[in-house]
Amino acid sequence: MSSPAAKTTPAAQSQQELFEIADRVLPRSGLGSYSLADEIRLIYSHGEGSRMWDVDGDEYIDYVGGAGALILGHSHPAVVAAAQAQYARGAHMFGSLNDVAVRLAARLVDDIPCAEMIAYATTGSEATGYAMRLARAFTGRDKILKFEGAYHGNHDYAIVSTFPKATGDYPQGAADSSGQPAATVSTMLVCPYNDLATLRRIVAEHHADIAAIIAEPVQRIIPAEAEFLHGIRALCDEYGMLFILDEVVTGFRLAYGGAQQWYDVKPDLSTHGKVVGGGGPLSCVAGRADVIGLSDPKRKGEPGYTYFNGTLHGNPVAAAATLAMLDELGKPGIYDRLNGFADELCRESQKVLDRHAIPAIAEHTGSLWQILFMEKTPRNQADIIASDQAAMRRLDTLLMQRGQYVLPGVRRFVSTVHTEQDLADTLRGLDDACRAFR
Ligand SMILES: Cc1ncc(COP(=O)(O)O)c(C=O)c1O
Repeated sequence: MSSPAAKTTPAAQSQQELFEIADRVLPRSGLGSYSLADEIRLIYSHGEGSRMWDVDGDEYIDYVGGAGALILGHSHPAVVAAAQAQYARGAHMFGSLNDVAVRLAARLVDDIPCAEMIAYATTGSEATGYAMRLARAFTGRDKILKFEGAYHGNHDYAIVSTFPKATGDYPQGAADSSGQPAATVSTMLVCPYNDLATLRRIVAEHHADIAAIIAEPVQRIIPAEAEFLHGIRALCDEYGMLFILDEVVTGFRLAYGGAQQWYDVKPDLSTHGKVVGGGGPLSCVAGRADVIGLSDPKRKGEPGYTYFNGTLHGNPVAAAATLAMLDELGKPGIYDRLNGFADELCRESQKVLDRHAIPAIAEHTGSLWQILFMEKTPRNQADIIASDQAAMRRLDTLLMQRGQYVLPGVRRFVSTVHTEQDLADTLRGLDDACRAFR
């Protein structure tokens, strides 16, 4: 242990000084699994609306949006006011409900199409983990079927065939990390996305063991084909499996009613985070009362009782921020504007790419968008693997160097506060980046 005098608490202010500290005290000099190349790595200082600044004062148009949590942009006044007011009333209470969490739960049950009940968790990963556990408890079966390339969070059941370099030996999944128990990986079955024929074949063979099918309605940047989601629903009905729709990204984003509204599909359970959370530590599982009700603590000791618990479940600061966000998102015309901006951004970006003869497409579903080095909308992970990912990351790196905060190779977001000025600046930056790319 170091003496107080030798502590590394940063009095330093410059990015370089902070990186020197970070390189020593953080294992990856960053957060999560993103490790940006030296020439583009930055330490974020603050954000306002659609813009963010690093500690050296460099300004960026933010298209990461807190990984999609900040649908209203940074520091939205209504959200800030709600969170501050609640923090002053009490930052957290554990073991008993709080009034804000009850109000939010009622709102979510009203507003999430499949929700008869919700159960709180803290992160999107926790929500998908609980949904899988509930499905196992409800059906008495162990296996979960997921789609190749889908991201459902960081736990051992989720990171199976999420980042494959080659397509798999379906339905066998591949571990994405050291440290994952083989027994966990083998409880996951994997199928290519948007491929109903293969799904039917796997389900016909393994349905007696499958508790649920979990799917992202937009898998990273790949939109589900409507008949695919409806096909999953039908198969689940036919074989007594549960359909878990992972709406951590798409909930309250594609539309107010999320992908369930966008695709007109009703899962048994849906998982929510990001917008649900208001940028804070809160997420939930929504859906059928007979399934979520298995976590009722009064059922402890009964068959089917399913354990849920977490220090921050139902956190009132995050709940207050979420309620403020939902109020804003409920205003007329918000989604037309949000999705319309992404549409214009992609159409205009495509013109720039074409003018420079860059073999890439600017794709979006709702406010999720990305520039991909391929010819047409991808259908599954095989299309992503076949695309020129090195070129995609090179262009994204050039965009970052021109003041656009995008994580190279990662799907990005538009928020409700992106402006015409942002659009003009983005297109100018893209034009310049394309010139440098060539
Ligand atoms: C579809 C989906 N599910 C689950 C998660 C996990 O959420 P969290 O990072 O809050 O654990 C994410 C995170 O990006 C996600 O995109």
